[in-house]
Amino acid sequence: MEKLTIALSKGRPAKHTIETLEAADMQFIDFHEKSRKLVFYNVDESIKLIFVKAVDVPTYVERGAADIGIVGKDNILESRAEVYELLDLGIGKCKFSVAGFPNYSIDANRPLTVATKYPNVAEKHFSRKGQEIETVKLNGSVELAPLIGLADVIVDIVETGNTLKENGLTVLEDIDDISTRLIVNKASFATKATEVRSFIDQLNNALERTP
Ligand code: PRP
Ligand code: MG
Repeated sequence: MEKLTIALSKGRPAKHTIETLEAADMQFIDFHEKSRKLVFYNVDESIKLIFVKAVDVPTYVERGAADIGIVGKDNILESRAEVYELLDLGIGKCKFSVAGFPNYSIDANRPLTVATKYPNVAEKHFSRKGQEIETVKLNGSVELAPLIGLADVIVDIVETGNTLKENGLTVLEDIDDISTRLIVNKASFATKATEVRSFIDQLNNALERTP
């Protein structure tokens, strides 16, 4: 059997993913949430888990540093990585949206200023609509941008809608549905076909068993 390297990001979704892997009979004995270790093996060392930043998961998988990645669709879309997306884990559900002040109306005759952590996603969405934009790339708290005049609207993920609401903003347009997905390196999919398939099947069975 070939060994598999799986890239995950730390945080809440990773905890859920590890619980699912354990439910699928893959035990990572040393793993605990507060550990600062970045590499873990299962009991027979057939699986190596590496923890990377969520935005970097698609890059590790595209370049073959990991065979498989488990990460939010938001990061997959933004990265534009050439990978196979083979499973929707059905967790971490949220939406990509355009948000701004209620009743804000977009003027098609001038460039729209869009603050976002996801410039590629914003660019693609508005170019499809023929709307010219200028992106302001931020790394967080993007809801602040319209409030202080840094941007007209934002493109961001919306889960409960609380952050928008508490800042007097609202969803203007929906872009895409987001959830945690499993992605596979294209070469690994061919050279480690058996191992990749059996990993996905085991994970899928465990997901079907858990409510
Ligand atoms: C995320 C996202 C939204 C918010 C959506 O921000 O960028 O701001 O959560 O969740 P809600 O709809 O349930 O309020 P995060 O907390 O990750 O902080 P950051 O954007 O500053 O990184
Ligand atoms: Mg935010």
